[in-house]
Amino acid sequence: MINGIKLAPSIISADFSRLCDQLQECERAGADNIHIDVMDGRFVPSISIGLPVVEAIRRSTGLVLDIHLMVEEPEKQAAPFIDAGGDIINVHVEAATQLHRIIEEVHRREKRAGVCVNPETPVGAVEQVLPEVDQVMVMAVNPGASGQRFIESALPKVARLRRLIDEGGFRAEIEVDGGVSTETAPRCAAAGANVLVAASAIFNEHASPAENIERLRASLASVDHPA
Ligand code: DX5
Ligand code: ZN
Repeated sequence: MINGIKLAPSIISADFSRLCDQLQECERAGADNIHIDVMDGRFVPSISIGLPVVEAIRRSTGLVLDIHLMVEEPEKQAAPFIDAGGDIINVHVEAATQLHRIIEEVHRREKRAGVCVNPETPVGAVEQVLPEVDQVMVMAVNPGASGQRFIESALPKVARLRRLIDEGGFRAEIEVDGGVSTETAPRCAAAGANVLVAASAIFNEHASPAENIERLRASLASVDHPA
């Protein structure tokens, strides 16, 4: 936790040949959650990580596993990803036909439920479930790949969510996913986000994950955020 902000390294950009080492390095460097991008080749074009990898990650770290389901029919996937070790199950409002049912199922299993909104999806699409969810994930890139440019219109959405959540007295955290860097992280935090996902800003050839986490930490040190 940095100045009230949680950092969630997204392993999609990690070196999978030494994933366990990289997870442990993130843990030592003070990461809060491990973000796992699950892509099905249908909701988004790529296929990424499935259940056996999540199970292996569960054995490698005690950090909170933040499962980002970029899949069609997410109602079929919540339970298996909880069984594999997921702590937070995030589903896209664009993909879910039975959002309430998924949230209830996740809560019945005593895990946290999150709802994600794509860049073009307005905040109003999740307003009805704000009292129930534990997290709202605002996508600042189109889902499907790391290393894309931050979409600025995510920031007013974060600010609007922060107002709605605070005024309603709800518990939901606000997570930003996509394009998070030392430049955009403090702006996300200032808008009201309190969980930041980063793939390419943490796993890259310029520096080690620990050094990159330290840089993000430094960029957030003086943010006056409303979270
Ligand atoms: C996008 C994923 C993100 C992504 C973030 O489909 O949901 O988690 O990997 O990558 P960066 O931080 O490189 O934008
Ligand atoms: Zn993600």
